[in-house]
Amino acid sequence: MEQTYVMIKPDGVQRGLIGEIVSRIEQKGLRIVAMEMRMITDDIARRHYAEHVEKDFFKFLIDFITSSPVVCMVVEGENAVAAMRMMSGATDPKDASVGTIRGDFGLDVGRNLIHTADSLESAEREITIHFTGDEMVEYTRAEETWVYE
Ligand code: RTP
Ligand code: MG
Repeated sequence: MEQTYVMIKPDGVQRGLIGEIVSRIEQKGLRIVAMEMRMITDDIARRHYAEHVEKDFFKFLIDFITSSPVVCMVVEGENAVAAMRMMSGATDPKDASVGTIRGDFGLDVGRNLIHTADSLESAEREITIHFTGDEMVEYTRAEETWVYE
């Protein structure tokens, strides 16, 4: 089982897409083991997006992600990191396939609705930034014998 970090960005919350996005995660068979709506502080935002500090869009990214509440999640399952990246779609919604969250609901790279960790290492780093161990729950979903062989 892998864990990944997922965040519904301010545009997803403001556009009333929390339920739609959470529903897709549930329907995929993945297990949400932590979830909270929060305002991201400037400090947390800078740590989260540290890899982009030199990019010209960094300031826009920090201003955007701290502008309104986000929904932070830890999502668990077999191949969870890649599964969530596939479900999110390409970074720029203009390139994202129909059927992905960005492809179905987005139009602009700066308003792409969801963040998902891009590797197992990123997932571990990001989970540590946003959650403490005791904020995560251990359980199985009743349907998992029908999700996994
Ligand atoms: P994310 O980290 O938010 O899940 O997105 P990602 O992995 O698909 O893309 P990444 O390269 O990590 O970029 C982080 C966010 O920066 C914004 N961005 N803007 N103006 C631009 O050219 C540009 N490129 C990236 C996007 O909002 C992207 O999600
Ligand atoms: Mg990224």
